[in-house]
Amino acid sequence: MERVQLTEDLQFSRIIHGHWRMADWQYGSQQILRVLEECLEMGVTTMDTADIYGQYTCESLFGQALALKPSLRDSIEIVTKCGIKLTSKEGVGINHYDSSKKHIIESVEASLLNLHTDYLDAVLIHRPDVLTDPEEVAAAFSELKRAGKVRSFGVSNYTPSQLNMLQSYLDEPLITNQVEVSLLVRDQFENGTLDQAIEKRMPVMAWSPLAGGRIFTGEDAQTLRVQKALKKTAAEMGTENMDQVLYAWLLKHPGKIMPIVGSGKVKRIRAAVGALQLKMTKEQWYELWVASRGKPVD
Ligand SMILES: NC(=O)c1ccc[n+]([C@@H]2O[C@H](COP(=O)([O-])OP(=O)(O)OC[C@H]3O[C@@H](n4cnc5c(N)ncnc54)[C@H](OP(=O)(O)O)[C@@H]3O)[C@@H](O)[C@H]2O)c1
Repeated sequence: MERVQLTEDLQFSRIIHGHWRMADWQYGSQQILRVLEECLEMGVTTMDTADIYGQYTCESLFGQALALKPSLRDSIEIVTKCGIKLTSKEGVGINHYDSSKKHIIESVEASLLNLHTDYLDAVLIHRPDVLTDPEEVAAAFSELKRAGKVRSFGVSNYTPSQLNMLQSYLDEPLITNQVEVSLLVRDQFENGTLDQAIEKRMPVMAWSPLAGGRIFTGEDAQTLRVQKALKKTAAEMGTENMDQVLYAWLLKHPGKIMPIVGSGKVKRIRAAVGALQLKMTKEQWYELWVASRGKPVD
């Protein structure tokens, strides 16, 4: 498995496993542990979660599985997120964003307990809080780092200017911006996010790399065009698996995109890992780009 260097002493696996849908999988702790062990055998060591996933349940589901085999903790990197408050939490009146120092620290403390760990490899601010006071974020990050509770920090769903603004208040570089990128959602290629990632040597994590499954089930004109092109490219590349072509398409970009696989099914995670071996030509890449865009390049 290819490893991606984020800081001097932190690497992620190029393919990451995501826990957003974990509550829907309806797996018990033993089954979650088995999926984790299968991931590790494939070299998928980085796990992406968030305080709010599964209405605040997914961190605990994973933490309970990890508690069955605590020796695995140091073989994985745990990425979690904070900064969104949902009404499913007691005392929250309306869904909103909160990047205050108090909320970041309280959320991280809760994540540590839920995940049965005494450190997190990375904490990301989940979505930009319009009312962010960057000095508070900086103070929260410094305190958590000094206490050895969090090794590194990043953001998610930030525009390049939001990222630059926050970065200008921080002592250490943000390690990533986790954003939605797929063949159906191409905005990041053209809105400066991926340019910034390359400029800053800051690989992005790609959420919903298969457009949340919509790429297989959608019936709108764009999806139908993409499905047709995917079938053609899959045949040319010698795979029957459209997922693999989608991953290979993301992996070819020079921004070192790290796709987050959202399925709990081991065969799907294996397919993503297999995509690292596939070679896609520039013409194949642009054929898919054009299918998504709906018009040839100018
Ligand atoms: N930072 C953020 O704001 C944010 C937002 C959303 C997600 N995320 C992260 O990104 C991760 C991945 O997101 P995602 O789950 O939306 O990723 P995704 O991989 O694009 O979508 C996963 C969905 O696609 C389905 N699927 C996969 N392969 C399929 C196939 N061959 N045919 C039909 N359906 C297929 C899966 O179904 P099965 O379960 O049946 O395989 C699952 O429902 C999340 O777990 C989370 O960690 C972050």
